[in-house]
Parts: sequence; C-alpha cells; structure tokens
Amino acid sequence: MTSNNNMFETSKTDQKVVDLVIRNGEILTPSGRQQGDIACHEGAVVAVGETGWRGRQEIDARGLTVLPGVMDTQVHFREPGLTHKETLEAGTRGAVLGGVTTIFEMPNTSPLTITREALASKLEIAARYAWCDYGFYIGGCRANIPELAELELLPGCVGIKVFMGSSFGDLLADQDDVLREIVACGHRRMAIHAEDEARLRARRELVERSRAVTDHPHWRDVETALNATKRILAVSETVQRRLHLLHISTAEELELLAAHRHRVSVEVLPHHLTLTAPECYERLGTLAQMNPPVRGRRHQDALWRAVRNGLVDVLGSDHAPHTLEEKAAPYPDSPSGMPGTQTLLPVMLDHVNAGRLSLERLVDLTSAGPARVFGIARKGRVAKGYDADFTLVDLKQRREIERRWIASVSGWSPYEGMEVCGWPMMTVIRGQVVMRDDEVLGTPGGRPVQFAETLRPQPER
Ligand code: DOR
Repeated sequence: MTSNNNMFETSKTDQKVVDLVIRNGEILTPSGRQQGDIACHEGAVVAVGETGWRGRQEIDARGLTVLPGVMDTQVHFREPGLTHKETLEAGTRGAVLGGVTTIFEMPNTSPLTITREALASKLEIAARYAWCDYGFYIGGCRANIPELAELELLPGCVGIKVFMGSSFGDLLADQDDVLREIVACGHRRMAIHAEDEARLRARRELVERSRAVTDHPHWRDVETALNATKRILAVSETVQRRLHLLHISTAEELELLAAHRHRVSVEVLPHHLTLTAPECYERLGTLAQMNPPVRGRRHQDALWRAVRNGLVDVLGSDHAPHTLEEKAAPYPDSPSGMPGTQTLLPVMLDHVNAGRLSLERLVDLTSAGPARVFGIARKGRVAKGYDADFTLVDLKQRREIERRWIASVSGWSPYEGMEVCGWPMMTVIRGQVVMRDDEVLGTPGGRPVQFAETLRPQPER
C-alpha cells in the first residue's frame, strides 16, 4: 500500500502527503524500539520508520516514547442509571487524559446490560459522547441464557461477563447449574468475576460485627476467590469454554490458572500491584475498599512474579467509581470500588521507572495482550494497516497525581498526592489527536471496537 505512490498525493519535493506524521519518536514496535517517523492516513498507519512522508498535520515527538494505544479492558462507567457516579463522557475523557485509547465497559449499570435494547442504548450514548473507542460487555445471568449466544455476537459487544459473587449491582450468576448453562451458550471468551457468593454470605457476619475496613480482605478471603475460580474452571471444562479471569488477587489462584493456560487468560489490576494491606486501609479507609480486595504483601509479590513471568495477559483498571459521600458510609455499608482508568498508565509507568517491569512488558499487557485475548481487529500494535492509535509518553516526566486532574464524576483518586515518574503527553485515536498536554481536543469521536470473530462493516458516523 505505502509503496504505491498513486495512493497518496505527492508534494513538490516528491514526498508522499498523508493526514498525520509523528516525527522522531522512540516507537515501541512489535520488533523492538525504533527511532523514527510514523505516517498515518485515513485513521490507519501507513508506514513506520520510513522517511519520505509529509503530513498535513505533523507532530514532533522528539524526547517522547510512542506506545501503541493503551487499552483498558475493564471499566465501570455507570451510564445509564448511575450518572451521579460516572458518565460515558467523563469516564472516556478521563481515559484519554490518562493515555487510554480504548475501553471495555461492564454491564452492572441500571438497567443491567443483559438485553439487546440495553446494549443498543449504551452504544447510542457512546456514539455521541465517548472520547475513545469502546466495547460493552453483556451480563450473563439466568434470565438471558436463551439469548446469550446471539447477544455476544452483536456489534459493539465484547462478550459475556459473569459475576459469581455480588459486588455492586444486582447482576449475579452464583449457582453451578446456571453457570453451566451460561458457559454452554456461545463461544467467545467469557469474562469472570470469581468470588464465591455462598461463602461471602456465610461470612458477612464477620464484618457486620467488627465494622472494620481492615477486615475486608479477611471477609473476602483467599478461599472466597479460589473456590469460585475452581468452580468456574470445573463448570466450563466439559465445553472447553475460553475464560478471562478478571482482577486475580491471590497467589493460590495464579498457581491454579497456570495449569489451565490452554483456555484461560488472566487480568491483574494496578490497584492490586500498587496498594498493600493493611497499610492502604489504615491510610485510605473505605476509599481502598474494592472487590476482590487489596491484599497483603505475599499476594502482591506473587502478582508481580506473574506479571514478569508472562502468566498475566492484560492489565485492566477496574475503574469503579463511587462518590466520596457514598464512600463515607460506615463499613461494610460503604460501596466497593475505586476509580482507576485515568491513573492506570501513570501508575504503571512509575513501576516501569522503578524497574518492576519493562516498558515492553507493559505494552504487552495494555496493547498486544488485550488484542490477543479479545481478538480485537486492527488494534494493539504500531504496524502498517493497524489503527493509528498511540499513547505518547514522557518517561522522565515527574508529576504528582492531583485531584484537579481527575475527570471522573466521582472526583477522586486513591493515588492523590503520589508522585510518579512517567506521564502520558498525547493520546491519538485513529489519527486524531484527542489529548495533548492534559487538554482534551476536538469533540468526542469514539467508535465501537471491531472483533475478528464478529467482523462487520463499520457503521457510518
Ligand atoms: O469493587 C468493585 N466494585 N468490584 C467490582 O467488581 C464491581 C465494582 C463496582 O461496580 O463498583
């Protein structure tokens, strides 16, 4: 395509003219770091590392590192129904301010995203207000079993998400017979929140009595997570359903999942890699309360080992905002969840700078990994023919995470006051610069993500 000069206008100096050229950046390509230019046209990459291109728009990326667009495959943007906590507009604005180019959103909204109509309504809102590209999960539950195989293939749908333990909202599939039926419907990779509801109910008394948030990881203990993970593996064994185990938080689950790599992918969260019990509960109180809980050092060390040794496939933020007022309710009546999409990249770049993982590994977790796990079409790498989605970062920039930078309607971050090294300077989506120097540019232009398994023509915008 690029070698065909007729495809592009040619300038007087014989340069091919395209929509956008990003010059002189350090580019994270599939074959390593490369210094040079990226040429983009009509939303796609047409050349990487070649000279001889001129852009109608040119960006000087000297001193910056160009990552493939960061994808956050687990966010709760609360719309419709809970827009006092978050909206698709504010959630995606926070995403692009944090260098995120694509998000996958969860179905525990109100109404629940468990029908064709509910999915259509989210897609309608997103088509008008989303700053970044998006996909939506369909919730799997007893009520929609007969339609699930069809629903998971709808345009804009990521696949099915199942809550085995109640966390926030009414979406629950906690019985093995229901789970067995759900996993037998359809064939796409299925995302699982694995906490054992029966054990949670049986042990709720513990926190009702103590009312101490430091007990959150004792109530929702290792067995709670491990039992559920074992159950979903067993239930899906006969149909060999591919599973995506969300927010894995225990050393014991990692051991188990390693033995099921042929059909299991693994997500971990920056929160679990960064915050540690009991310190975070003492410092942040219920602001640190989330499900599954932030745990102690032994588990965090195991998560880091799994990040480094390749067991972990993706990092999701599990952006789950609640207002400060809601969070101020006395534990355990306070809701679980913390915002996180906007801070995912800065926090992880700080870990890169501290030597906890390589930048290449981070890119695998936030771009190549999501593309591989979910079969995303044309995203996940800086390469010819792929969407021109980039996150330009300054690896040396030191910044404090401040509340005034946070776009979420909930208006806070558990990382306020933390100084990080590494910052997203620019977010480019399909060739459009949507964020530069902490400023969102233009108008919301996000589009539904396409998946290799369900490819259809893109709807006209
Ligand atoms: O802490 C959590 N809050 N974990 C979840 O899985 C759901 C989430 C929410 O929606 O608030």
